Amino acid sequence: MTDYQKSLNEIIKILRVNDAKIIAHYYVDEILQKIAEDTGGFVSDSLEMARFGQQQKESTLIVAGVKFMAETAKILSPEKRILTIDSDATCSLDDGCEFNEFKRFCQKHPDREVVVYANTSAKVKSIADWVVTSSIAVSLIEYLTSMGKKLIWAPDKYLGQYVIDKTGADMKLWDGSCVVHEEFKFTELKDMITKYSDCDVLVHPESPRSIISLANVVGSTTKLIEASKTSKKKYIIVATEKGIFYQMKKLSPNKIFLEAPTAGRGATCISCARCPWMKLNTIDKLLKVFNEKDNEVFLPDDVIRDAKKSLSRMVSFKEKNIINKAS
Ligand code: 13P
Ligand code: SF4
Repeated sequence: MTDYQKSLNEIIKILRVNDAKIIAHYYVDEILQKIAEDTGGFVSDSLEMARFGQQQKESTLIVAGVKFMAETAKILSPEKRILTIDSDATCSLDDGCEFNEFKRFCQKHPDREVVVYANTSAKVKSIADWVVTSSIAVSLIEYLTSMGKKLIWAPDKYLGQYVIDKTGADMKLWDGSCVVHEEFKFTELKDMITKYSDCDVLVHPESPRSIISLANVVGSTTKLIEASKTSKKKYIIVATEKGIFYQMKKLSPNKIFLEAPTAGRGATCISCARCPWMKLNTIDKLLKVFNEKDNEVFLPDDVIRDAKKSLSRMVSFKEKNIINKAS
């Protein structure tokens, strides 16, 4: 029996005994995505993870991802026990948007509606009017702009700028960024495109504007995976977290996937396209997930109640949008 099969058998047992299911993000290591798939769990983007979790009959969800994803699952399924694999797995966007500071920022602009990205704490979500993920940011802001709304956007300044460029929205931007996407390098990416001319460039909108300007497709993790599948090109250059390559390669085994460069002039390459917090999720920790009491997510009732309002508005906006597109 392989080591993978041994771990898988043990995890299946742990899940059965504890009435649990795994929901994983595309950015965690390939092996964890495979474990989620092979145990009847789910691998997806941040929004779909929470929506899937909500529909499961199991009383416990194990989130292979980062803290804001586990908190979102708790907000949408407060009756369930939600566990993180490592309670230190956070996100630079979430960490860079401290509740009291953000509240003061909002108070300075009382005439604006508050839109926050899913990559924020539950407490920040609780004072927002809307929560968005990258999958619906442009369509929601387009809608709010058509209603004449002036907005506050937090925390990712690059995604915010991308949305402004696409929609012309009047938005005050919070100064946050993702340590992974911020590191992609323009000149080196341009050189790479010249070298591999038969290529498509797929970019997550948390990347700087200069990187987005070189993209063939810009979108959420789900959109990028779909684009990698439908692309007719031999080379696919990907400017997002490397964990996503597992799903892309599975769908297109004959294409060649290349990481967009993070090294080059001015490079510090702290993350090199790997999210340091996603990497904290490991099989060893998953095997012990029920032994660590810090792994469970607890949120105050009032935070759940208020954050659920802004999150649910996003979920129903997304559902209506899908219906409108289909009809
Ligand atoms: P998605 O919402 O596209 O899954 O992205 C989450 C994230 O953390 C991107 O860095
Ligand atoms: Fe946060 Fe960036 Fe990691 Fe996504 S990749 S979880 S935005 S630090």
